[in-house]
Amino acid sequence: MIPRPASLLSPLRCRSMTSHSASALPAHHAGASFTAANRLSTIQRHMSASASASASASGSSSTTGAAGGVKRLTVFGAGLMGAGIAQVGAQNGLKIVLSDVTDQALQNGLNIITKSLSRVAKKAQPDDIEGFTKTVMSNIETTTDAAKAVEEADLVVEAIIESLKVKRDLFGFLDTKAKDSCIFATNTSSLSVTEIAEACGNERQARFAGLHFFNPVPAMKLVEIIRTPQTSDETYNALREVTLKMGKAPVTCKDTPGFIVNRLLVPYMLEAIRMVERGDATPEDVDQAMELGAGYPMGPFKLLDFVGLDTTSYIASGWREKAEQGVISKELVEPIPMMEEMVKSGRLGRKSGKGFYEVSGVHGATETAWQRDGETTSGHLTKGRSDENAADRATGKGTRVLGYGRTVRATTVSTASESEARSGWKRGLGEGASTVGLDCREGRRIMHA
Ligand SMILES: NC(=O)c1ccc[n+]([C@@H]2O[C@H](COP(=O)([O-])OP(=O)(O)OC[C@H]3O[C@@H](n4cnc5c(N)ncnc54)[C@H](O)[C@@H]3O)[C@@H](O)[C@H]2O)c1
Repeated sequence: MIPRPASLLSPLRCRSMTSHSASALPAHHAGASFTAANRLSTIQRHMSASASASASASGSSSTTGAAGGVKRLTVFGAGLMGAGIAQVGAQNGLKIVLSDVTDQALQNGLNIITKSLSRVAKKAQPDDIEGFTKTVMSNIETTTDAAKAVEEADLVVEAIIESLKVKRDLFGFLDTKAKDSCIFATNTSSLSVTEIAEACGNERQARFAGLHFFNPVPAMKLVEIIRTPQTSDETYNALREVTLKMGKAPVTCKDTPGFIVNRLLVPYMLEAIRMVERGDATPEDVDQAMELGAGYPMGPFKLLDFVGLDTTSYIASGWREKAEQGVISKELVEPIPMMEEMVKSGRLGRKSGKGFYEVSGVHGATETAWQRDGETTSGHLTKGRSDENAADRATGKGTRVLGYGRTVRATTVSTASESEARSGWKRGLGEGASTVGLDCREGRRIMHA
């Protein structure tokens, strides 16, 4: 949701497409952060470098996307989501072109894919892990040349930074380079798909939709297919077909803020904070209630700490603008003083070490302690009662709510993951957090640690 610094380094360019075998992959990662200004100029170079190489693109001989079925998928953005989408496509027999603005960003994506594939291969083909990985990787080519990347594409899925301007610039450019039959899809989680699509001509707008994958893509079954008023039935059917082919479970939604998952989850988390603000219940009890009573993998306060209070506040304020336009109910996103106070004081959740819970240590530590500091976030938070066993049950024996007057034994985050897995969720905390479909880096870090 909030655009984060991407991992980009120098603006290298590689015009020829490169296909990959597992053994040919260097192991380094792109790692430097990057300002918005030099990100934009790199992207502009990426597209203008491409322009000259693309004259014949629209005359490509590849089979048509919608009618003939999607066989060639081009993914823009080799970050967390793009790499996952490319991997899942390649695993399911699609020919993939993965495109990004620098070679280092592409290498970063390939590293994500090979790491993930090695885990998948252990289950899928334990006797020939290398063979499995090689076969999948042979379906993936990479290029920094955006026009070349779409020459033969039946479907383009965009998973680049969450910026309306940058996405519109990319799609406007691709509209002139891709085959007429090529379908365009965006993986945006928070922007209007319709507004992104408007960068393209009318014909393409009929072949434009949202394809909202969840993080981590290889593990998460759900895909939300977002239909704008212009999306044609043919486009929608082709997208359903290809997501099923990729082993996903598609659901359909209009272009409405938060689509389905986030639209329900964000107000749910906000209402949970309001309950605590009013003193109706403690965060621990709310979490325990939703975990044990509703069967959720984690309660709303643990989720809030993973997603980040700042991210949640940012989403709510964006939606308040939508509420002004009558697109979403005002009451759902009314400001919550307690959340704003927490954000101001740096209690952002796991990313700052403190949110509703306090954490020290990292995933994998065997004695990660959740310490009491006696601070209170609001007057209401001091009203807690002592119930160590209940807290243990709710939080995997080790969490404690800040300023809540409970002392809970230290233990590990992974204990909670394991107990969730035992109870049938088969997901760790990181993955559970990402189930929300929010851009939850912390969840990813834990999953991929
Ligand atoms: N991270 C999540 O949990 C999550 C979940 C669902 C949807 N999304 C959405 O997916 C998209 C990507 O998110 P991410 O987390 O993978 O981001 P990321 O920062 O990991 O990766 C973005 C990549 O896009 C590349 N890029 C930027 N401009 C480009 C351009 N013009 N052409 C090609 N590549 C370009 C960057 O170099 C980077 O490698 C965003 O729209 C985000 O909202 C993210």
